[in-house]
Amino acid sequence: MTLLSINVNKFALLRNARGTNHPDLVEISYLCIKYGAQGITVHPRPDERHVKFADLPLLSKLIKNQDQKIEFNIEGYPSDKFCKIVKEIKPDQVTLVPDPPGALTSSFGWDCLKYKSLLIDVVKNFQQKNIRVSLFINPSIESLINLNEILPDRVELYTFDFAKNFNHNPEEAIEPYLKVVQFLQQNIPSISYNAGHDLNLKNLNFLLTKIPLIKEVSIGHALVCDAFEYGLKDTIQKYLTITKR
Ligand code: PXP
Repeated sequence: MTLLSINVNKFALLRNARGTNHPDLVEISYLCIKYGAQGITVHPRPDERHVKFADLPLLSKLIKNQDQKIEFNIEGYPSDKFCKIVKEIKPDQVTLVPDPPGALTSSFGWDCLKYKSLLIDVVKNFQQKNIRVSLFINPSIESLINLNEILPDRVELYTFDFAKNFNHNPEEAIEPYLKVVQFLQQNIPSISYNAGHDLNLKNLNFLLTKIPLIKEVSIGHALVCDAFEYGLKDTIQKYLTITKR
């Protein structure tokens, strides 16, 4: 089984469009949990155009107050501000992404050669606070040099390329990901796997069938779009039918 973590950034984007608190991000996140989401993911960007840093304590409280275990995952670039707030909030997991400040969305994973010392420090620091650390990575073994020293708990496979190529040739689209997972299993067996970006109702089952080790998928854009057609409750059920297989 793979855990479904819903990325609520797009709901926050809608809220911010009118400068009011509608839709209320805490209420929407509660509905996601009520309808079966096993995790909530947020990606507070420096310009706060989606989730704002002020949303984090409220979401954390909601998540901690649930009877069942819900995973809280905070994604972002490890700036001083980001690291300080994440350590205060203490989510279950922090996913480190190398986005520059104005990025529209995350569009590449870490270059572990170039950012070795930054990542070693940041990863160790979060781990000492008992926060699980996941690194957003490209489907390329070359970008993983030094990962054995950085030693995050997990990696999040950046699935944009998979999603883009899936419609043409699913087997070819998954190939680089299978190679990366095989490489990591052989070389750093302690690492577990998450996946995210552009996953949807069409490509998710194939991904999870090919890489059943994936522990968590974080899905935002497509799920919110599907909710226009099927409603939030039925949409989440459709995703859960795939992830709970
Ligand atoms: N993972 C990371 C690191 C992301 O930045 C995002 C988008 O915020 C996602 C997953 C989710 O991608 P999508 O919105 O395409 O489902």
